[in-house]
Amino acid sequence: MKSTSLILLFIVSFLFVTSHGLSEIESLLKFKKSLVIGRASALESWDRKNPPCKWIGVLCDKEYVWGLRLENIELSGSLNIEALMGLKSLRSLSFMNNKFRGPFPEFKKLGALKSIYLSNNQFDIKIPNDAFDGMGWLKKIYLEQNKFSGEIPMSMAKLPKLLELRLDGNRFTGQIPEFIHKPHMLNLSNNALAGPIPNILSTMDQTMFEGNQGLCGEPLEIKCYSPYNLSSEPKASSKTKSSKVLYIVAAVVASVLAILIILGLIIVLCRRRRNKQPLLSPEPGPSSLQKRAGIQESDKGQSSCHSHRAAKRMIHTTKLSFLRDDKGKFELQDLLKASAEILGSGCFGASYKTVLSNGSIMVVKRFKHMNNAGFEEFQEQITRIGRLNHDNLLPIVAYYYKKEEKLFVCDFIEKGSLAAHLHGHKSSGYPSLDWPTRLNIVKGVARGLLYLQKNLPSLMAPHGHLKSSNVLLSEKFDPIMTDYGLIPMINEESAQELMVAYKSPEYLKQSRVTNKTDVWGLGVLILEILTGKVPESFSQSDKESEADMANWVKSNFKGEWSKELFDQEMGKTNNCEAEILKLLKIGLSCCEVDVEKRLDIREVVEMLEDLTKEREGDDDFYSTYASEADGRSSRGVSSEGINLS
Ligand SMILES: *[C@@H]1O[C@H](CO)[C@@H](O)[C@H](O)[C@H]1NC(C)=O
Ligand SMILES: *[C@@H]1O[C@H](CO)[C@@H](O)[C@H](O)[C@H]1NC(C)=O
Repeated sequence: MKSTSLILLFIVSFLFVTSHGLSEIESLLKFKKSLVIGRASALESWDRKNPPCKWIGVLCDKEYVWGLRLENIELSGSLNIEALMGLKSLRSLSFMNNKFRGPFPEFKKLGALKSIYLSNNQFDIKIPNDAFDGMGWLKKIYLEQNKFSGEIPMSMAKLPKLLELRLDGNRFTGQIPEFIHKPHMLNLSNNALAGPIPNILSTMDQTMFEGNQGLCGEPLEIKCYSPYNLSSEPKASSKTKSSKVLYIVAAVVASVLAILIILGLIIVLCRRRRNKQPLLSPEPGPSSLQKRAGIQESDKGQSSCHSHRAAKRMIHTTKLSFLRDDKGKFELQDLLKASAEILGSGCFGASYKTVLSNGSIMVVKRFKHMNNAGFEEFQEQITRIGRLNHDNLLPIVAYYYKKEEKLFVCDFIEKGSLAAHLHGHKSSGYPSLDWPTRLNIVKGVARGLLYLQKNLPSLMAPHGHLKSSNVLLSEKFDPIMTDYGLIPMINEESAQELMVAYKSPEYLKQSRVTNKTDVWGLGVLILEILTGKVPESFSQSDKESEADMANWVKSNFKGEWSKELFDQEMGKTNNCEAEILKLLKIGLSCCEVDVEKRLDIREVVEMLEDLTKEREGDDDFYSTYASEADGRSSRGVSSEGINLS
């Protein structure tokens, strides 16, 4: 009896030990199978002959595998996480400096991991929001220098033990989520993040947020404002009404305080002047509109003040020139009487919203870097713009010319910009735009561009600055474009740096802007409207780089409907998939790099009008179109559709 139980015990323990050892070997070999190894000999040591702890890249503590470190060996293929589930002691994974791409692996199946290193790979898809759920031990995440897109997953911000996080050099968009505690080390630089930086991160170094166009708040020196500017939308989604009320109360208190301070300053200034009599600069300088308003207050209240005459002179020089008279006449000081609310800061300067005494709401846009044209040339161009009249263009009501800056006065458009609706609607509370609305917006923009081309024939790119934040939406969601016709006025250097026309492939490659450059802008806008992605998140500083929205869409478009590609916020598509695909193809051919092959705006408008005419028989859409149109089949649109290779 004794001996049999001894033998049994022996067998059991033997089985246990070997099965344990075996399962680690099997797991690792299974894992290896799904890898594609660029350096052929790199994993030669991964062989049953050797114990796994002798294999290259396998980190052991005694006999237990606690980590894998496979770096710099041109690995690609897929990471078989299921196979790794057999490694019970696994705590750390590093696959840095390889060529992995595609979606984020399901690391959360390995709940005991403490560190993940994926730096310098090609991962290029949005990380699911719950990707880190249940990873209670995770301390270090290194994902920098990949191509991850989409928002930073909420589950990452909720990790209880997170200490080090590097996400720099990716294409993350949206807002930074609220981290439940502050990591020791965090790098979010060089992404396409926008919106306010959460409070808990406000003491981190500025450089950790660099290279994100739309971030605002501490520690950056950019204030957060505005419903116009999606990036500065404070997070409203999680906030209750009471906090909105708080907001308003705070704003009122702040503005009262500001007025008191300004009044105080004026009194102090006036007293000083009485003693020293320095000249008040007749130029308003780079001060804000509110400050100017303050100066005028002084004009009324403190008639004994020495700045009186100077202020008078200033008001005299601040005469508005009117381009339209349907708004009645008003003066700059009427605009400034009301406390101007800042709407946002575009790339050329801030915009303010003010209410005239007759109740009409106006927007004042400040433009810096607008000295390319001398006074006369400027007036000529602005008069030309002022004569335009089209439903899809926002008219300039009046302007104010001064050498250092120009002010344009326009109507206020309640619904804000297309960009805010596409990318910021969650926080702004707008409903998402459905497909018919999106198509309607594209059509309107295209008509507006055609009109501009006809009516500003002297300009190569008559719009020149088409982007979703420059397309406002009317009450009925019709598009209204702004900031058109500015190219001749903007300083060349700033134009090249900031304006959309100068981001076109023809400018990047051949330094030229053509009469089809706006079509390219429209193409990008179409892709943005269909995918819900932010175009800037694709552009890289590297000018030669082909990484842009159009290329991204091309490489992800398999000729058919796919959930991944199209903006899910579009909601029900009601069997309009065929139309949506057609619009995508039109968008892509607008982005055609070869200007000769690119459609011109007239062709685009016609195609868009035809899009809904042919609700059925979509297969012959392109052939019908191509046979109608003389020689257009050679321009990217052929009977086989558009060549996407
Ligand atoms: C943060 O990321 C940027 C860009 O990738 C890099 O240049 C910088 O050195 C990083 N800083 C730290 C402290 O990791
Ligand atoms: C919003 O404001 C930021 C910061 O001032 C600016 O960089 C960005 O271009 C603005 N975005 C839009 C859509 O106007």
